[in-house]
Amino acid sequence: MDTFEAIAKRFSYRGSFTKQKISRDDLHKIVQAGIDAPTGCNAQSVSFVAVDDPAIIKAIAEINPERSKPVCLTAQAMIVCIVDKAPVYGEMSFFVEDCAAATQNILLAITALGYASVWLDGILRNGIGEKIGEILNVPKGKEVRILLPVGVPETFGKPNTKKPFDQRAWFNKYGG
Ligand SMILES: Cc1cc2nc3c(=O)[nH]c(=O)nc-3n(C[C@H](O)[C@H](O)[C@H](O)COP(=O)(O)O)c2cc1C
Repeated sequence: MDTFEAIAKRFSYRGSFTKQKISRDDLHKIVQAGIDAPTGCNAQSVSFVAVDDPAIIKAIAEINPERSKPVCLTAQAMIVCIVDKAPVYGEMSFFVEDCAAATQNILLAITALGYASVWLDGILRNGIGEKIGEILNVPKGKEVRILLPVGVPETFGKPNTKKPFDQRAWFNKYGG
């Protein structure tokens, strides 16, 4: 699948996954896509834990089962994106942008390999991210920022409709 096809096919999947396993080779490629993303000042402020141990996946999904269902409860793997918020340019840090760039690369790699995922950060609020960090031995001072459950969807959905080009983009001047 080429880049444009992966961009067009990516969609947020929140349903159940099949039981099809994800190979370590595929997980390595998926995480490498995140590592290869641009980062402010090349500070590489994002690190990743690829979880494929079913017991750890279950432990993460069951921290907050009401909000995890069904996409986390049936995930065959989870990519956990962890940020270091330390300033990298004067007082500035770019961990939000770095993590977003890495996440999009990862979502495209997931799509290109025939899997699906969804960008989850809402479920990490109210101390859930910290609990996941404890399960994964994330060092104090680093933050679990995004959780990406991965698997083969039971049914492939259609990407969400986006507004047409001419309502969101123009050449040379805003509004055309
Ligand atoms: C910064 C950000 C945070 C998001 N957080 C969540 C989330 O916590 N839970 C969720 O189900 N989807 C989340 N999403 C996915 C969006 O809801 C989704 O991208 C949007 O509805 C468009 O759908 P699409 O991804 O299928 O194009 C998030 C996306 C972004 C970029």
